Amino acid sequence: MIYTVILPAAGSGKRMGAGKNKLFLELHNIPILIHTLRVFDRDPNCEQIVLAVKKEEQMFIEQLLNEYSITKVVAIAEGGNERQHSVYAALKEVTSKGIILVHDAARPFIHQEIIQQLVGAAIATGAAVAAVRAKDTMKKVENGIIQETVDRESLWIIQTPQAFQYTLLEKAERLAEVENFLGTDEAMLVERLGERVHIVESTYDNVKMTTGEDLLYGEAILNKREQEEQ
Ligand code: C5P
Repeated sequence: MIYTVILPAAGSGKRMGAGKNKLFLELHNIPILIHTLRVFDRDPNCEQIVLAVKKEEQMFIEQLLNEYSITKVVAIAEGGNERQHSVYAALKEVTSKGIILVHDAARPFIHQEIIQQLVGAAIATGAAVAAVRAKDTMKKVENGIIQETVDRESLWIIQTPQAFQYTLLEKAERLAEVENFLGTDEAMLVERLGERVHIVESTYDNVKMTTGEDLLYGEAILNKREQEEQ
């Protein structure tokens, strides 16, 4: 079940407040970006990796790829101001037009089994995304006042990877661009086409490194995984 992965890595990471691209911050002395790249570089089913990066960071990232012997990056696209633009730029570089995964470069802990389930579901149905159940009570709030308690049973927190058949994702990205629509994830662009997007239940440790506390959590996940390997 071969696939290509797009890793958008062109964010500024303002919420991390690190003063630089958060993907260059290190967990266990290895940049977050490399942790994520390694997952796919080591997966025999991953055929190609396409990155989207900021122009001014491309040279540094190429050095990192070299230093950490990452071999599957076949193209590096120039990222845009919005994540969606970065993903579309990368998609235009894809040459293997089967199953495409889009995965935040800032999510280094994705499990191999989830990736395989997503690829399988995308082959069977066209589109599937990783998600976890909402754990907390969820309420709709307006101007600081609770409007309603939303039934938690039907609420899922959406993560990446998001997996699609190439033609479906390409159509969704193209139409979004033509219609000047900006979504918060790729599934949203596919949903607009009236297509079904399926859920693959993921794990809570597939966390996106967004704020400082996430780094502490990230170190703890790596500690646990190292202990398990011993
Ligand atoms: O900012 P956030 O963590 O939500 O971004 C998710 C992923 O999208 C990150 O890996 C980030 O580098 C990437 N991104 C991008 N281009 C942008 C904004 C974010 O490639 N313009």
